Amino acid sequence: MSHIDLLIHNAAQLVTCVAQSGGPVRGKAMLDPGIVSDGAIAIHKGSIIAVGRSGDITPNFTAAVSIDARGRVVCPGFVDAHTHIVYAGDRVGEFEMRIQGAAYLEILAAGGGIVSTTRQVRQASVADLVEQTLPRLETMLRHGATTVEIKTGYGLDTASELKILHAIEELARRQPVTLVPTFLAAHAVPPEFSGRADDYVDLVIDSMIPPAADWYQSSSFAAQTIPFFIDVFCEKNAFSLDQSRRVLEAGVKHGMRVKAHVDEFVNLGGSLMASALGAVSIDHLDATTSEQIAEIAGSSTVCVAIPAVNFHLGNPHYANARGMIDAGAAVALATDFNPGSAPCPSIQFVMALACRYQRMLPAEALLASTINGAYAVGLGNVCGSLEPGKWADVLIVDAADYRHLTYQFGGNLVRQVIRKGHIVWSRN
Ligand code: NIG
Ligand code: FE
Repeated sequence: MSHIDLLIHNAAQLVTCVAQSGGPVRGKAMLDPGIVSDGAIAIHKGSIIAVGRSGDITPNFTAAVSIDARGRVVCPGFVDAHTHIVYAGDRVGEFEMRIQGAAYLEILAAGGGIVSTTRQVRQASVADLVEQTLPRLETMLRHGATTVEIKTGYGLDTASELKILHAIEELARRQPVTLVPTFLAAHAVPPEFSGRADDYVDLVIDSMIPPAADWYQSSSFAAQTIPFFIDVFCEKNAFSLDQSRRVLEAGVKHGMRVKAHVDEFVNLGGSLMASALGAVSIDHLDATTSEQIAEIAGSSTVCVAIPAVNFHLGNPHYANARGMIDAGAAVALATDFNPGSAPCPSIQFVMALACRYQRMLPAEALLASTINGAYAVGLGNVCGSLEPGKWADVLIVDAADYRHLTYQFGGNLVRQVIRKGHIVWSRN
């Protein structure tokens, strides 16, 4: 009998979401989220040490804290693999313009969109950005996110992009959600480079990526072996295929791992370009062809679907996540929480959209938001599933069947959040 920090028992379903041969879950294996009925989980020093049936686990341990799950679902904390939550202000005026007919890419081309958030971010201090972002992270945590990727990309000059990196590091220090930083200086062409996108790409490569790489090396993220990513918005009115490739290659040269925004509106060929560079994930994929999907399915790149953007922009061309799963590609889901295309903190809502508009089954949506999300941020070996040795990032859900996480929508079924073995949020 050993003494441990935390024991959770009496879960109607302990949903483990385990990895598939040390990688993301693919194809038909996504139909099985790994349910242990009447499950229990033993946690010590922030890690999971045992998972199984309550009758098998509880006799082996005495625990400092014991939680009776009372017939609820227990599952891994959600991994939100794509967000832009460090921003200032909002874009509620643009929301009205879009309702009245303006298109997202038209607003961007006219100097609004991402660039309008940039104007506000440039004026904000690190402290302002941290204060505005903390409540967003708290809401995400309450909705079950225990790991969140965060991109820069609203600074668009060297000092402002580094300011966002410093804000991300300060946020990691100030609140419990695990953060993963991504450098997205090539998010939009800033107004002072209007018509000179190539010159801005040169600046990103020569003057922005090197100090960002230096920042990472001395940051708390490197110390904790949390990866650092390079990203680019490969899109009409943003960066061409060649410009995007140059940015990603420069990031790789500086030790960054690769992500890319591809095919959100127009297919420029970014999916195969990024995958060929060894991208850990390619994100959006609304306009990706089935031929491209078939090719990506044979790679290790995770496809991150972002249905909240389609929902918010009223764009009915949701990414073909069904086709991706059927082709054997690794599929994850993310909120893309940002002020322009997805002001959405809840991955539960994203899972609900994926089931309705992308014909993902509840099990597929849950795996896409846990273990596959973890692989999409390079942390598949430490989080995203309930397996011995992993971080004890665990949710207790107000339902006896995990499918309610997608069947119900618009609310919050998460009742308790445990991150690295600590209870960080409980309803009442
Ligand atoms: O993922 N596409 C580029 N970036 C975000 C939008 C950011 C914004 O509109 O502020 C996205 O959709
Ligand atoms: Fe994005």
